[in-house]
Amino acid sequence: MSFDLVFFGGTGDLTWRKLMPALFQAFRHGKLPAGGRILAVARDEQSDEKYRAWLKERFQDVEGAKRPSDEEFARFAELVHYLRMDLSQPADYAKLKTWLQARNADTAVLYLATSPHLFPQICEQLGAAGLNAPHIRVVLEKPLGHDLASAQEINRVVRSVFSETQAFRIDHYLGKPSVQNLMALRFGNVLFEPLWRRESIANIQITLAEGIGVGTRGDFYNRTGALRDMIQNHALQLLTMVAMEPPSSHDADAIRDEKLKVLKSLKPFTEESVARDVVRGQYRAGTAGGHSVPGYQQEQKVPAGSTCETFVALRTEIQNWRWAGVPFYLRTGKRLAARDAQIVVNFRPTPHNIFPGVSQPNKLVIKLQPEDGLELHLLAAKGTGQQEMLAPVSLDLDFDKAFAENRVGAYERLLLDAIAGRLNLFVRSDEQEQAWRWVEPILQAWAKDTTGPRPYAAGTWGPAAASALVARDGFAWSEEQ
Ligand code: BG6
Repeated sequence: MSFDLVFFGGTGDLTWRKLMPALFQAFRHGKLPAGGRILAVARDEQSDEKYRAWLKERFQDVEGAKRPSDEEFARFAELVHYLRMDLSQPADYAKLKTWLQARNADTAVLYLATSPHLFPQICEQLGAAGLNAPHIRVVLEKPLGHDLASAQEINRVVRSVFSETQAFRIDHYLGKPSVQNLMALRFGNVLFEPLWRRESIANIQITLAEGIGVGTRGDFYNRTGALRDMIQNHALQLLTMVAMEPPSSHDADAIRDEKLKVLKSLKPFTEESVARDVVRGQYRAGTAGGHSVPGYQQEQKVPAGSTCETFVALRTEIQNWRWAGVPFYLRTGKRLAARDAQIVVNFRPTPHNIFPGVSQPNKLVIKLQPEDGLELHLLAAKGTGQQEMLAPVSLDLDFDKAFAENRVGAYERLLLDAIAGRLNLFVRSDEQEQAWRWVEPILQAWAKDTTGPRPYAAGTWGPAAASALVARDGFAWSEEQ
């Protein structure tokens, strides 16, 4: 199957940091379908050769083992081309059309790795140029909008040009191997599903913690904040995967229908519940990796006095028969104590304890980062007879080791899916809009609340109020258990 893959924003960070290295990995692993061409589109005037040389230089920053040798890069670079485009100029879309038609590949994937405010303009121009035939797909990178109204506007324009099955809204967390494993664990085995409900589960925690600060992205981040950057998309997508009912098939819409139902069942926030159940924080100077690091307001391109949140912890519930009354805690932040992304399912204690003095409810940890794997925490007997005691043990599955041969990174997986036209791991417009609908009352309540985010020292687990939020229900965050 021949394909053309076009990156709008071809000289942007996302393209050289994530997309090109992911494609290179697919190429190196022999997973990229033969007969492909990759086209970077950007504003500068330059030749294919110059772009390739620039990209090669950027690849020096790619993680050691993933970096290509000169010979590998040269073979990969043969697929890479460059086209100068001014995205506001119809004539430049005509140039793109000519480039695509020169070969007429089976599929053309147009990846919008630009700022989202350009999405409507680009889609309209693509439509006007007739670049929306059924074999053409458009990939939309997050953030998709800034709030519900802007997301609806983007979707309205996208829908006026492309059908829903041509629109691939990316959330790279859905491409992470652990998320696939969560689906497999829940719907490919009988063991957990009978227990996967309010009768057996005490609470579920989703933590997306980062050790890094905002780095050089201060201007983008300050307009966005942790709620829009991580909760509205990544954390909510993980929540839908944990909480959804078994879909009737593995089809994209069967899965996405179930995910949408979860989003619609989330307890809506009010001004009062935002004050009670949502904690926002902002990092101050502290220590990370043994070094002193500045506070958020001292980061490049961040205005002094900013009230942008770099941390959010919240408590919610899913109002349906399976989950009624079970707290779901979501938490994300920059400059936290560790890079640690995980979903923790805390089971209820045994109904009657015959081992006095020992009680440790079971816990299932689905680890997304830094390594992906599964841990099941159990109590086991240690010693015999009078000495018999129970001790916590954990069954560990390290997916990196178990499936080393077939590991595929999130972007690699999603790019290959987009080329193949598989929509399962992409977000449908109604899911995305429902997620905005749910976070909007939080944004509105914050806009009115002049107290601003709570400070926390870099290198900690965030403001103390986040621990209090969970302690109020008699629970603790996983690292405090
Ligand atoms: C992105 C956010 O979507 O996800 C970043 O914009 C964040 O702020 C990143 O750092 C985290 O992704 P990952 O895969 O490194 O956990």
